This record gives sequence, C-alpha cells and structure tokens, in this order.
Amino acid sequence: MISGQHISWHYKHKRKSSHVLKDVSFELRQGRITTFMGQSGAGKTTLLKCIANLHSHYDGIITCNERDLKTLSPVERASTIGFVLQQFHLFPHLSVLHNCTYALMESLGLQKQEAEERALEVLDSLGMQSFSQVFPSQLSGGQQQRVAIARALVLRPEVLLLDEPTSALDPDSKKSLESLLLELNTKGMTIALSSHDMPFIRKIMDYVYFMEQGTIVEEWDQKIEALASKAKIQQFLSNT
Ligand SMILES: Nc1ncnc2c1ncn2[C@@H]1O[C@H](COP(=O)(O)OP(=O)(O)OP(=O)(O)O)[C@@H](O)[C@H]1O
Ligand SMILES: [Mg+2]
Repeated sequence: MISGQHISWHYKHKRKSSHVLKDVSFELRQGRITTFMGQSGAGKTTLLKCIANLHSHYDGIITCNERDLKTLSPVERASTIGFVLQQFHLFPHLSVLHNCTYALMESLGLQKQEAEERALEVLDSLGMQSFSQVFPSQLSGGQQQRVAIARALVLRPEVLLLDEPTSALDPDSKKSLESLLLELNTKGMTIALSSHDMPFIRKIMDYVYFMEQGTIVEEWDQKIEALASKAKIQQFLSNT
C-alpha cells in the first residue's frame, strides 16, 4: 500500500512561491483503483508527480509498505511506481520493443534477450506484440498509450499511476482502456489516476478523492458509502 501523510508542495520560481498542495493525506490501497478528481488546477497532477518522485521536494512523507519512497534507490523506485504521463513521452527514436526494454537493460541490468522476452510478454498481454518493431510515430494515440503502459508494467511496479489517461483517446480507445485497467485490476494491480472524464470515472471508480485548491475535501468508497452523502463528488459526477 502507498500512503501519503501531510503532503505539501510549493511551486517556487524566482522570488515567487505558491502553495500548490496543502497537507494532503491519502492511501492507495492494494488492489484498488483510486481516482483523484477535481477542477482544473486542483493539484491532481502535482500530487501524482510527488508520488512518482518527479517532484521530490515535498513536505510530509509518502511510504510504500512503510518504507519512505525518498529512501528507495532509483531501481527500487522504478519497480514500485509506474507512471504513465498525460503525453506518454515515449522515446521517438526507439522501436516499441526498445521503448519497453530500455529501462530493463539500463536500470535493472537485464541482458537483451531476457529484457525482450519480458517486454514481449507484456506487449502481448496488451495486444501490442505485432507492433514491437514499429516506432511511436507510426501508432495511434491509443496504441501509443498502450506502449506507455507496457513500458511502465515491464518493471513490475506495485502501483500504476496514470495522469488524465483518456485525454488523448477516441471513444473506441477509451473503451479498450477501461477494459484494460479493469483487467489489470482484476489481476491484482493497484491503480491510481487523475481524470475529468466522468463517464470513464464512473466505469472504473473504486475509491475517489475529490481535490479543491490543493487539498482533499471529500473522499468516497463507492463500495460501502452512499453517493448522496458526498455532495461535491456527486455534483462532479453529474457534470457529464
Ligand atoms: N511548474 C509549475 N509552474 C507554475 N505553476 C504550477 C506548476 N505546476 C503546478 N502549478 C500550479 O499548481 C496548481 C495545480 O496544478 P496541477 O497541474 O496539479 O492541477 P490539476 O488538478 O492536475 O489540473 P488539470 O485538471 O488541469 O490537469 C495550478 O494552480 C498550477 O498553476
Ligand atoms: Mg492535471
């Protein structure tokens, strides 16, 4: 389980500083799909970046199974948190297969053959094995996203984070992302994501945190609590 306690993050530029995350505490429980929702600018991406250690200068503590994420080596961190950024950020000059083997060889030190076997197994499970030799620019947005997910999954992370995963997808790709995330979750993958996409959130939500101006103002376990008691989440979900 990933747990964040009293996370604060300031954006600092020259002499200006703005308080973006304000004392945020949360849990990403094993096997759950946790969704962060809220208006644009609420701090969802910033929080995901703190969890992924792309923002490391936060106050508070984020732990994975009680170990402070800041104390993990880069290799341990890579196999703890997989992060799929909103714009995917695939390596454009590397084939799909090489995108997926890069960190296995460079960070984990796997030999090429072992790295390729592992990457092909993951690409196959995401229906992307036949694209292994093409370059990212030859793929659709939905296919690029699958490669970005495969690239994160080859490292066998405890948690998969996705920032606005449907923002670049057409309706069919969105449906297949829904099925993919639900399937990964059924196999035990812990997932956390940020999204504005209400129909998508409704299909996959499990536990929801609602953020406003850098704080969590409501949380909802949809399996055990009535939505009627969560005014902000209910209102947001009705904005389709
Ligand atoms: N690098 C930065 N420079 C300036 N301001 C920043 C920076 N990063 C974040 N912020 C500010 O932090 C706040 C939270 O931004 P963040 O991107 O986390 O919001 P968000 O909830 O993900 O929004 P969206 O739904 O639009 O993606 C915003 O007010 C934003 O202006
Ligand atoms: Mg965002």
